[in-house]
Amino acid sequence: MSKQILVTGGCGYIGSHTCVELFEAGYEPIIVDDLSNSEPTILEGIEKICSKKITFYQVDCLDSSKLEDVFKKHSFAAVIHFAALKAVGESVHKPLDYYQNNLGSLINLLYLMRKYSVENIVFSSSCTVYGQADVLPVTEQTPRKAATSPYGATKQMCEDILRDSISAYGCFKGIALRYFNPIGAHPSALIGELPRGIPNNLLPLVTQPAAGIRPMLNVFGNDYNTPDGSCIRDYIDVVDLAKAHVMAVDRMCQGRSKANFEIFNIGTGRGVSTIELIKTFEEVNHLKLNWQIVARRDGDIEAVWADTSYSNNELGWKATRPLSETLKSVWKWQQNITFALRK
Ligand code: NAD
Ligand code: WQD
Repeated sequence: MSKQILVTGGCGYIGSHTCVELFEAGYEPIIVDDLSNSEPTILEGIEKICSKKITFYQVDCLDSSKLEDVFKKHSFAAVIHFAALKAVGESVHKPLDYYQNNLGSLINLLYLMRKYSVENIVFSSSCTVYGQADVLPVTEQTPRKAATSPYGATKQMCEDILRDSISAYGCFKGIALRYFNPIGAHPSALIGELPRGIPNNLLPLVTQPAAGIRPMLNVFGNDYNTPDGSCIRDYIDVVDLAKAHVMAVDRMCQGRSKANFEIFNIGTGRGVSTIELIKTFEEVNHLKLNWQIVARRDGDIEAVWADTSYSNNELGWKATRPLSETLKSVWKWQQNITFALRK
């Protein structure tokens, strides 16, 4: 059986770590990425870690003819579909870009998977589909709330497109992994999160002031109904998250799926507040951050964390890297990349 796995968005933050884990598990990742939100240096990082040249196509998944050329050249055991636009705030201002890219890429892929008899797909979903849940922690059965951004809507719609296609055509199996808040970097510090421009997510906004790139970290609100008043999230290490993809591929390829479409929460099962995260970062890296409390951010969810019992028991996956190690890895990566960019 083929060991080739098509990884769309494989030069991105989560995709790059997944390529490394796929390689270490004996698969051959084949990357399709248009580099719209990633740098060639990440591909070099993957190749250094694996000590191997990785097959890479600079192709936009919206270009179905170029994407088809990739399907013609390979025989894929599965597709892992990361390629998407992901900035929540930007999606409010550019909804058409988000609907076109995120829905169009998946639809193109599914057409080609049918045509070339590729049966298995892992889809990057998100805890954003739950919104502010009424009961915490959230299980996979927790009802999805109406999306609060076009980005969130694309994740809900993509799950629906997958479920409907799997049920109608009878030729696919799919697993949607609902990631909570991915953070961290590979222990080698050769790959990590490399946001373009002003970062959207918390961790680069923690490490960049620490590296002197940005003056100050703003904490959005300390008047939430939480123990220290700041928001609570479930921060999942990116290497642990990457391993969940390998397990999802194994499960489908080895015929162990319980249903043709399955959904798993990928988090630690532990809620951590923004202030707790900052203090842990300072403690484990022996530094003091410049941070201040500012007003709440519009649309922020007060608290969300995962019930991971289903992914632990059924997928056989569990988050293992302690938060302290994850936060050390981010700082090591930030120092490495700051040095590389200054050269
Ligand atoms: P990322 O932006 O680092 O990676 C996405 C990659 O896809 C980039 O390299 C980009 O160049 C590429 N890409 C985008 N559109 C493309 C297209 N049309 N054709 C080819 N390549 C394209 O993002 P990430 O953080 O690695 O996220 C990966 C996936 O996980 C996304 O689907 C995202 O929505 C989802 N997700 C991310 C988070 C998070 O917080 N990082 C949380 C939940 C879900
Ligand atoms: C985390 C916490 C902020 C920045 C987003 C998407 C979601 C999913 C994960 C893709 C929050 C606080 C942040 C700052 C702060 N992505 N914060 N100061 O909002 O949980 O979710 O990423 O699917 O869809 O919405 O992540 O990293 O932006 O924020 O205090 O400068 O950090 O309030 O509590 P969020 P985030």
